[in-house]
Amino acid sequence: LERDLIAQVEAAADEPALEAVRVAALGKKGSVSDLLKTLGSMTPEERKARGPLINGLRDRVQGALGARREALAEAGLEARLAAERVDVTLPVREAPELGGRIHPISQVIDEITAIFADMGFSVAEGPDIETDELNFTALNFPPGHPAREMHDTFFLAPDRNGQRKVLRTHTSPVQIRTMRAEAPPIRVIIPGRTYRHDSDQTHTPMFHQVEGLVIDRSANIANLKWVLEEFCKAFFEVENVKMRFRPSFFPFTEPSAEVDIQCSRKGGEIRFGEGEDWLEILGCGMVHPNVLRNCGLDPDGIQGFAFGVGIDRIAMLKYGMPDLRPFFEADVRWLDHYGFRP
Ligand code: PHE
Repeated sequence: LERDLIAQVEAAADEPALEAVRVAALGKKGSVSDLLKTLGSMTPEERKARGPLINGLRDRVQGALGARREALAEAGLEARLAAERVDVTLPVREAPELGGRIHPISQVIDEITAIFADMGFSVAEGPDIETDELNFTALNFPPGHPAREMHDTFFLAPDRNGQRKVLRTHTSPVQIRTMRAEAPPIRVIIPGRTYRHDSDQTHTPMFHQVEGLVIDRSANIANLKWVLEEFCKAFFEVENVKMRFRPSFFPFTEPSAEVDIQCSRKGGEIRFGEGEDWLEILGCGMVHPNVLRNCGLDPDGIQGFAFGVGIDRIAMLKYGMPDLRPFFEADVRWLDHYGFRP
């Protein structure tokens, strides 16, 4: 019996199996308990002889059960430790899809900056809140000139000296800042926020422009056309693009032009470098002698050209976004769809 019981104990694979063995041996009706009960009906001599044997059997079975229980518990712990181990050598899981995105405006400013950097332009910046002087007067807008109204200007409340600042209506005031701070030759682009009182599908009160300014002894219209053509080819990713220079007017350039680029429009889809349609994308011209003078430069020895591009507009054209307003509504679903992966 003993050998049999010890074998059963040893063979028990888990706690419940071991418990079943214990009940079968030491439980109320267990085989060892039955033997112990026989002691009661024995003669004293018999009991003296058999008692120690039966009690010894019970003790050894109990001992075996205890040892087995401990062994099983230890094995269980080992197994759990192995199963729950963190493998620090596993490769990291890919980041969830809803990570941050680069806003299309930031992306397009980066693209524009890179294209002009290749042509030797550096980046200049100016403040969004600008003096009336720099936004208008120094740019050859005469006082009370209707062009000031044309820009749908946001005016700030006048300060103690009666000075009325404005939210800049274009990036052109940074032309003045640059020419007053740096000696020619100058070759800069000026990306930034601009403001006009205007709101519809393609206009928002805050929008973006990038200004270009080149000043040296001989910068001319041919150079201007070449720079703009190179830019359009690189930005719209076309081999050849026809451009149309339409005479126009800006107080700070003379002559002035607005530039259209050739495109085709089929079923709402726009393609550049082909077709019969034209899209206006920028204004430009030769820097007006008065503007040069306002910056302490002598128009007899120095000249230059400037241009201003609506960033939002060319971003919409390039990436096929029909409405400008969601650009500035911070809707994560729109950003997730139109934004760029870092
Ligand atoms: N500042 C002009 C505008 O906002 C654009 C422009 C810039 C035109 C530079 C000529 C030269 O419309």
